[in-house]
Amino acid sequence: SGSLEEKVNFSEEQEALVIKIFEIAPSAKKMFSFLRDSNVPVEQNPKLKTHAMSVFVMTCESAAQLRKFGKVTVRESNLKKLGSVHFKYGVVDEHFEVTKYALMETIKEAVPEMWSLEMKNAWGVAYDHLVAAIKKEMKPSS
Ligand code: HEM
Repeated sequence: SGSLEEKVNFSEEQEALVIKIFEIAPSAKKMFSFLRDSNVPVEQNPKLKTHAMSVFVMTCESAAQLRKFGKVTVRESNLKKLGSVHFKYGVVDEHFEVTKYALMETIKEAVPEMWSLEMKNAWGVAYDHLVAAIKKEMKPSS
């Protein structure tokens, strides 16, 4: 099947994800130090691409963990770090919502022939549980 090919195509689509977040929520740009201090256009910023990739990969991993263990099992120390970083930068519910929307739209555009309500729901569940796990750790780091 073409699944391997589709995976390669998807990683290219991460760029669209990145751009979309800032189209929907321009204020999010101020949060990223490397965007504030940079003249490089948003969509060409390699660090932002890395973040978009983290969101995508960790959502995939979350799906696998939910299936296997019935819960998100990001390593405790990683989760604590993730929580405190997002707390520190002032990430709020709306940002997670916008990011979810952008992630979904990007997948939909990347693999339109595979897109369905079931697929949307599956990604949504995986993403929501991951975010819930991060949010639980969103407090000042001690
Ligand atoms: C940093 C993942 C959602 C803004 C990070 C890092 C990871 C990550 C792995 C690097 C942490 C480190 O330094 O060790 C995720 C995941 C998300 C998510 C998995 C959702 C499931 C968001 C959202 C926003 C956001 C919604 C706001 C629009 C940031 C910022 C940083 C960061 C500002 C710090 C970047 C810097 O170093 O300047 N995130 N993130 N993240 N994330 Fe997220």
